[in-house]
Amino acid sequence: MSTDAPEEQSPYGSGSRAQDAPSAASTAPSPRKVRIPHLHALKAEGRRWAMLTAYDMYAAQIFDEAGIPVLLVGDSAGNNVYGYETTVPVTLDEMIPLVRAVSTAARRALVVADLPFGSYGGSVEQGFASAVRLMKEGLAHAVKLEGGTAMVPLVKTLTDAGIPVMAHVGFTPQSEHQLGGYRVQGRGDAADALVDEARALQDAGAFAVVLEMVPAPVAARVTEVLSIPTIGIGAGSGTDAQVLVWSDFAGLRSGKAPRFVKKYADLRGTLLDAARAYAADVESGAFPDAEHSFES
Ligand code: KIV
Repeated sequence: MSTDAPEEQSPYGSGSRAQDAPSAASTAPSPRKVRIPHLHALKAEGRRWAMLTAYDMYAAQIFDEAGIPVLLVGDSAGNNVYGYETTVPVTLDEMIPLVRAVSTAARRALVVADLPFGSYGGSVEQGFASAVRLMKEGLAHAVKLEGGTAMVPLVKTLTDAGIPVMAHVGFTPQSEHQLGGYRVQGRGDAADALVDEARALQDAGAFAVVLEMVPAPVAARVTEVLSIPTIGIGAGSGTDAQVLVWSDFAGLRSGKAPRFVKKYADLRGTLLDAARAYAADVESGAFPDAEHSFES
């Protein structure tokens, strides 16, 4: 995978250093499509960027319009669309319509689709076939997969076949049962192994790597060592990019959010108020009024 800057200009404007430039998303977004070399150029320029998950057309349109350069159709759809307790039950057949909706709606963002649990861990052939479905049927621009050095042969095969791969190490939710629940990974002696895993995935051809629930200093070290972008979630501020699950950052979910989630809106509260106001208007006869009716 080439890390050269793309021939066309950065989609974020002049490409000045992070400390004196507005953030990637706040700069008026160009309609040009975000490509992997743009992400590599951002790393070279020391500019951070944000990734969000999206599972449907409206979220994809809104985040695209906001200038979010990468949208992830995560298997977190399991918890956030399908109502499962974990991501484990999500199937490829459940992912593909969501991926297609996001890919069709996004005009500019790079759309990355998660390979769900059980769709790639069995063999390279299985992983290849699943990734091809996400690209051909889902219209994804890249796939993401969880796991360390065991994933190296698959990452090589996919990238050799022209399928860009985003890797994902640290806490990997698909292995939650094996890892014994939601636990920070890469602490103490495990830090070196995490750095080695990330490097091996880069060397196999991954264009970026997600670091989930990793101590901030370890994530910063991985970011320093790698030439590809690191995308943190619960990994501190030393990564090249950040990712949040959109229903978390927008305050759609109920209950306690993980510590690493910052709530940027209260959509749950807004929708609750709207639904209650609508129901009250219907019950009182205030809706529909003349303005919302056809009188002739
Ligand atoms: O599925 C997902 O949303 C993810 C992110 C949390 C990185 O993998």
